Parts: sequence; C-alpha cells; structure tokens
Amino acid sequence: MAILVKNIKALVQVEEKPVVWRAGKEMKTLHTIENAYLLTEGKKIIDFGKMYDFNPEKLSKIKEKIEEIDATGKFVFPSFCDSHTHIVYAGSREIEYIDKIKGLSYEDIAKRGGGILNSAQRLADASEDELYKAAMERLKEMAAYGTGAVEIKSGYGLTTETELKMLRVIKALQKESPLIIRSNFLGAHAVPLAYKGKQQEYVELIINEMIPLVATEELADFIDVFCDKGFFTVEETERILMQGIKYGMRPKIHANELDYSGGIQVGVKYNALSVDHLEYTGDEEIACLLNSETMPTLLPGAAFFLNMVYAPARKMIDAGLPVALASDYNPGSSPSGNMQLILSMGCIKYKMVPEEALNAVTINSAYAMGISDMAGSIAKGKIANFFITKPIPSLEFMPYAFGSNKVEQVFLEGRRFSNL
Ligand code: NIG
Ligand code: FE
Repeated sequence: MAILVKNIKALVQVEEKPVVWRAGKEMKTLHTIENAYLLTEGKKIIDFGKMYDFNPEKLSKIKEKIEEIDATGKFVFPSFCDSHTHIVYAGSREIEYIDKIKGLSYEDIAKRGGGILNSAQRLADASEDELYKAAMERLKEMAAYGTGAVEIKSGYGLTTETELKMLRVIKALQKESPLIIRSNFLGAHAVPLAYKGKQQEYVELIINEMIPLVATEELADFIDVFCDKGFFTVEETERILMQGIKYGMRPKIHANELDYSGGIQVGVKYNALSVDHLEYTGDEEIACLLNSETMPTLLPGAAFFLNMVYAPARKMIDAGLPVALASDYNPGSSPSGNMQLILSMGCIKYKMVPEEALNAVTINSAYAMGISDMAGSIAKGKIANFFITKPIPSLEFMPYAFGSNKVEQVFLEGRRFSNL
C-alpha cells in the first residue's frame, strides 16, 4: 500500500535533517511546507515537498497500490507521541473526583486507601482479556485524536503476579495495535496495602523478584518509580533504578509532582530518558537538567484535573531546556488521552507558543519514549504515522480551538486507521 496526499494546505513538522529534540530557543522552530505533498510506501514516509515540485514519475517506481488523497484546505501533522500514560486499568474513579471537588487532596485520598490502591484492587479482580479490551478502546480513541505512539506503564498491580499481568497486556497491545507502543515497569507506584508499614520489604520485592522476572519475559523497555513525598524516597528510587538498569531497562521516572523530592536529580544521575511531572522545579533542578540527556516531561492534564500548581515550563525553556508534553492518561489524575487538549493546555497554562507546544507533543515526546529516530516528525524513512485535519484556517487554530477534534483522517504504519 502507498499513499499520496496532495494539495496539502500545510505539511507541518517536516525535517530534511532529523534532530533528536528541540531545546530552548530552538523550540520555536517548526518547519512547515505550504501547498505540499506527502508520499508513503509500505510503513514508511518516502517523500514530501512542494506540490509544484512533485514529479508524477515518482509514482511509476512504486509497485504497490497507490491511494491518492486530496487535502485541499487541510493540514497534515505527524502523529502525536504520548510518552507517559497508564491506560491499562480497570474501572474508573469518579467518586474520588467528587471528593476532590469537595476539598480532599490527592494525598488525602491516597492515605485513606483510595487513589492508586483503589485501582490496584479493581485490577486484581479483572482478567487479562478485560484489561486488554478496555485499553484497546482507549488506544483507539487516542488515535482518533491524533496520537500515533504511546508509552504505557504498569503500576496498578503492585504484586508480582498482577504487575506481570499488566505488562503482558501491554505486550499484547503492542502486538495487535498499529500504534507504536513502549512499555514501562512501575512496580514502585505505591506501597500496596499488604505491605503497609513495611515499605522496605516491598522495595526488596521489586528489586529481588519483580525486576528479574519482568526482564526474563522481556516485558519492559523502561523502569519507573514514583519518587515523591509520601511515596518512594530518593534512596529507594536509586536502588530500584540501579537494578532496572542492570536488567536492561532505562529509567523514566515520576518526579517532583508533590514536592521538591530530589526526583529530578536522581533521574539525571541515572541518565533517565525522561523525568515527568516536575510541578516543583526550581533553579537547582533546572541547572541539573541542563547538560543532561534527560527530557523534562510535563503533564498539564494532571495539574489541571487535580487543580495543582503547574510546572514552570516557560522558565525551563527560557533557561535552554527542551520540554515534552504528555497526557498521563490514568483514572486518578488525568482521565483523558486527548493530546489536542494537552497541546492547548501547553499554550494556555504554560505560555508556550504553538510552535513550542507542537515540538513538545511530537519530536520531544518521541525522544522521551526513545523513538525519535522513527516518529515525531515528517521525515524520509520515519514510520508513516500522521493525520489529516478537517479544513482549518491556520496552524494556531489547532491549540486555539480547544476541546473539539480537528483530526479528520488518521494514518498509522502507512494505512488508513478506522476507529470503528
Ligand atoms: O502520573 N503520580 C503518580 N501516578 C499517576 C497517578 C496515578 C493514579 O492516581 O492512579 C500520575 O499522575
Ligand atoms: Fe503518571
């Protein structure tokens, strides 16, 4: 199968020479071709350019069937990369949502056995098949909003058996879904009820039993820890990360959501691919991130839903850092995987200009999940994951018209994706 998209009003985020990420002032750079074409063959992008440079002879070299699409008045974007989600879960937690509206904090709810432990209870009762079907539905909805790559975490199991169950579900999704999927082992998401008052023992279980088993079954690309006030300490995080690294998993951690936890520093120390949340980021944390290979990843959906402080994105970018944005899709702090909404929040709440926010949800979030060589931009040789918008007046309209779906047609691995 080959696809030729013609007469594109603007082809966004094109790269002649692919970059791994965009940082600081460079985040305002977003290469766009007006009146463009895009050509894919098999699963890959093979060509793009100005319509008036298009040479129809190119098509004669293609042996596969070619579908031609006219995109007059429409934009084409590379699919969004959502580098931080928890979409394998059972049930929902709207009761806690009401409690939050009435004034309880995220930590209050967690302390009384709600929150992550509530999801762990429900997950224990759900079959692998139920979890798979529910997560697949979520993936389809995300794809319909323009997402083409998703990182998925475990962390609602909290026993060896249920953590492995979650990771197997992620592996099955990886196999069946046309989205690019990466898997993250988050056994250290919370201390389960059975280990209440025995946190140290739970950490030992993660290190000595869970990580080796996860590695044996090759179930995770990454290792994660919720390194924050009331969850896991820096010392515990260090030990878990070291063991994960020993077993071939790169760190990608939850840090500084609830306090200046030292999570950013420990993430950088262990060369984390990303440190995520970062609501509590000061000068010291920014200095630590500069000159590192760690992508600061912000999750505005969680700050919005929990009504908490927003990460200082503007300050971080102005200091020269790259920033990625992801949805954090999960039942407790961000029950949405709509990356168009995340794009709007990036502009409105973080004061990022549309170009910066678009880099944050494409190339930078691709880096944050280790796939910037194959996704995150329109470049020759990258996977043909892209979407065509409805007719829209401008690039800026994407974040501006928040809440409505501007995506009209989705293509994943070079094939039309149908949500039905
Ligand atoms: O990224 N912060 C920790 N973990 C999730 C929330 C999980 C939950 O509440 O179920 C997050 O926000
Ligand atoms: Fe999270």
